[in-house]
Parts: sequence; structure tokens; C-alpha cells
Amino acid sequence: MDNLVSINDVSRPDIESFLDTAERLESMSNDKRAGILQGYVLATCFFEPSTRTRLSFQTAMNRLGGSSINLNSDSSSLKKGESMHDTAKVASEYADIAVLRNPYEGFARMMSESSEVPIVNGGDGANQHPTQTLLDLYTIRKEFGRIDGLKIGLMGDLKYGRTVHSLAHALKDYDVKIRLVAPERVQMPGHIVEGLENVEQTSEMQIDDLDVLYDTRIQKERFPDEEEYRKVKGAYVLDRETVGRMKDAAILMHPLPRIDEIKPEVDDLKQARYFEQAQNGVPVRMAIIAELLGVEP
Ligand code: NCD
Repeated sequence: MDNLVSINDVSRPDIESFLDTAERLESMSNDKRAGILQGYVLATCFFEPSTRTRLSFQTAMNRLGGSSINLNSDSSSLKKGESMHDTAKVASEYADIAVLRNPYEGFARMMSESSEVPIVNGGDGANQHPTQTLLDLYTIRKEFGRIDGLKIGLMGDLKYGRTVHSLAHALKDYDVKIRLVAPERVQMPGHIVEGLENVEQTSEMQIDDLDVLYDTRIQKERFPDEEEYRKVKGAYVLDRETVGRMKDAAILMHPLPRIDEIKPEVDDLKQARYFEQAQNGVPVRMAIIAELLGVEP
């Protein structure tokens, strides 16, 4: 694999192979891991805010013995009027591999077509977030030992949320039941729902029978105006009572950041798994970097 731009380009066997490599890397000692990518450099070029994606990629690279450079878009020549294309091209090619995040759908794809180095899509607008999907699947497999056979709910902003778009695409290759829970205005785009078998859609917060509830933030920055955002803001709020009604063995996931959709009082319930999920970003991104650089860990 040369680039990781869309989860649609990744087959189920390739997904499993990423997860297996991540598992192996997670169980390796720090010493052993640190010899794997010595001398390699990763560039993070983000034109939108990021906490977990950027930091976990940098941590992953550091743990493999490589190093990273980070484009600070607030103090770069973007401020002089340079295009995102030129900025990302130059910054990426200082390194051996680059992770890009951008508000425009298709930006990572476009960059990958002319790049001399492997390009990873760290989120392109409301389109896709494939590395998040790999860590989401890793989290589910780690918890249940499998993905097939589960009942999975995707809830919140299914229209603009790129994490749920990529996750839904990936789940097409699994034998799962899917429930899409979203307000009318922000339901999953039709072209994604079409490819899903065993799917139901509702705007009611029906979560008690799920094995996995994947909650998401209403993507405020993608709405045409504040007025539209306010119509769906606060649509679902998970508190101790609602989450406590879920099955004992169920897990509650969220890509983070959460705003007001999961109350902090939920954090110590047995179902809460979002902080562990964020931690799983490191081994999964180690596996992605090694794979794209063609280095067998
Ligand atoms: C997500 C994103 O950027 O799409 N964050 C992340 O990478 N974990 C989710 C979000 O911003 O709501």
C-alpha cells in the first residue's frame, strides 16, 4: 500500500493485517520498537485543529525510533498567501511520510497523486478519517475478540462526521448489525447507507440492546450557519442513567473531542471506553507508518 487516503481502498484482509501488526507492536518492549524506524522522519501538516491524531502519530513515530516535524499552519508562509497545496507538498517531502488534515474533501487524495512520499489522510473535511477507523476497529476487536456478530450503533452527527463515514464504509465487509441514530437533519448520507446490509435508521436514542455505541460530536464547524447548528445541538446527551441501561458487556466509544454529548459523570461507568480508544491510536498508527514505509516490524 502506497498511501492511506480512504478506507474504501483498504480490503478486510488489509484491515486485519494492520490490526495484527498494531497488536504485535503494542506488546513489544520499548527497546525493541525503538530500532524499527531509526532515521525516518514523519511530517504532520494539519490545516485544521487536532489533538489526538497529531499527537498519536508523533508518539507512534517516536516510539518506533523515528522523529517528526510539524507544520504550524498559524506561523507558516500560508500567512503570506502560499497555497495549502504548495505548503503541504514542501513540508511532506522534507520527510519520508506525511499525515495531512484539511477542511477540503479530496485534498489528501489530490496530494497523494503527485507526492514523492506516502500520504496519510488525517481527515479531509466531512469526508473520511481512515486511521481513526482502524483504531476504532482495533478497539472493538480488543474488547470483544471479534467484530463479526456485533450490534453496533453510530450516533450523533452522521452527516458531517468523517469518523462515522469511514467506519460505516469499513463495516460493510463485516457481518454486523448497524443502527444509525441521528436527528433528521444530520442523517448518514444516502450513498453510504446504500452499501450497508442489516442497517436500521432512527432519530430515537435506542441504545439499550447494542454491543457497541459509537457516539459523535455535532460538527459545528461544518454547518452553513449557527442557526442550523442550534437546531441539532444537544440532540442526545448521555448521562449515567442512559448509559447505565446499556448491556453490562457493551462499550461506549467516541472519537473525541466530546463537547456536551457525554457527561463527565459517565467516565467511570464500566461501558465507557473512549479514553482507552484514544490510547489505541498509538499502536495502530505505528502499524500504519511501518506498513506505508515498507518496513516489517
Ligand atoms: C475527529 C475528527 O477530527 O474528525 N477527531 C479525531 O480525530 N479524533 C472527531 C471530531 O472532531 O469530532
